[in-house]
Amino acid sequence: MVHYPLEPTPAQMRALVEAATERIIAHIESLPAQPAMNVEGATEFARTLIEPLPERGESYEALLDFLFDEAIPRSFTAAGPGYLAYVPGGGLFHSAIADLIANAVNRYVGVCAAAPALVQLEANVVRWFCDIAGFPRRSGGVLTSGGSLANFTAIVAARKAMLPDDFLRGTLYCSNQIHHSFQKAANLAGFPYANIRELPVDDQFRIRTEALEAAIARDREEGWTPFLIAGSAGTTGTGAVDDLQSLARIAREQQLWFHVDGAYGALFMLTERGRAAMRGIEEADSLILDPHKTLFLPFGTGAVLVRDVRTLHRAHSLHADYLPAMQQEDELVDFCEISPELSRDFRGLRVWLPLKVFGIEPFRQQLDEKLDLIQFALDELRRIDGVEIVAEPQLTILAFRLEGSDDLNRELLARINAKKRVMLTPTTLDGRFVIRIAIVSHRTHRDRVEMALEDIRAAVAEVRK
Ligand SMILES: Cc1ncc(COP(=O)(O)O)c(C=O)c1O
Repeated sequence: MVHYPLEPTPAQMRALVEAATERIIAHIESLPAQPAMNVEGATEFARTLIEPLPERGESYEALLDFLFDEAIPRSFTAAGPGYLAYVPGGGLFHSAIADLIANAVNRYVGVCAAAPALVQLEANVVRWFCDIAGFPRRSGGVLTSGGSLANFTAIVAARKAMLPDDFLRGTLYCSNQIHHSFQKAANLAGFPYANIRELPVDDQFRIRTEALEAAIARDREEGWTPFLIAGSAGTTGTGAVDDLQSLARIAREQQLWFHVDGAYGALFMLTERGRAAMRGIEEADSLILDPHKTLFLPFGTGAVLVRDVRTLHRAHSLHADYLPAMQQEDELVDFCEISPELSRDFRGLRVWLPLKVFGIEPFRQQLDEKLDLIQFALDELRRIDGVEIVAEPQLTILAFRLEGSDDLNRELLARINAKKRVMLTPTTLDGRFVIRIAIVSHRTHRDRVEMALEDIRAAVAEVRK
């Protein structure tokens, strides 16, 4: 039999998977014991890796050893229980298996005709998300690589739905707390940054609706064309949820597009508390959410949902002679017709497989647990003398600081993180340096939050010496 070097034999394939599996399992088992961050010297190490295109192959085993022993450990342990930084991710193992399957079978899901059943599985995932959001039947959407591209796709759809081709008088409204991927996406969609109105927030970091209405009125008087209001269903800084009902009302009255960034927060709609916090989200014209945050998936999975899927279609549909025929049935979908991508990975499988294996209940429980954990952290922080809660949790993020200077708080954060059991990150609120705790991962439980509090208490004592 002819042996082609790029196609391993069945025995080789088995060995390849087994060797990787062994290391992956050891790695995941060791996650709780790994330092929450391990990047000292990592950049210098990275520089030593620069090399020319390899002419010859090397041992697979040696390469795996390099990856697991040298490259992977020198990073933030973003998949570990102590990662309470930024907006934590997860890394469901079932999704990793789904990716292996999807990549190994390598079917084409850009157009329905190429793999109708697989496309339908991904379309089911999108439908489930629309149902969670309370969107109507005519809604739809597409899975993206993350929230940033989801924002971009939504803004392009809104622009095409609301403005003429010459759209440079169009203005967009958001709070000064919205994730910067919104402004970036608007700019990529063609709007100068000067067309984006970043409005002030109230004492809970939610957009001030009277400021929003005043800005819209002022812009109209000056000859601008207001067209989009963006609310946050969980800001990155503090997890603040804008008054989405009021934003929906203003958008309706003013005949503007209502966009919601729920990249972090929207999936809390699975819980009772989340639904109560996010009333009005179901009125959005477009909504983004990130399964790689609050559904604990590996990085690389976001979603954009729109109230009327035809808006995505109008913005993205384009035909070519060399493509398979696009089907015309409402029930089926060609992802390339409603998104910027043509070829892409079968990312739906990494959502579909864990949801089918577990059902939704364990996800709901996990999110409820995180809502409880942040309340526990809040209660304990309040007991520490001199700690000020700057942002109480609305979902699972809070911000605090120790009375004293920004430098003192920088020192405090450095000392907490130096213990390496948790990784916290800061932000600036009202011009002051604050420390955030973000609890999202399916691997973070009460024991780790207790460690975080122990380390905070110890660090407070150290900086006070
Ligand atoms: C609220 C919010 N929106 C949007 C984004 C951007 O999402 P992504 O990083 O998936 O592109 C983030 C990322 O952390 C976020 O927290």
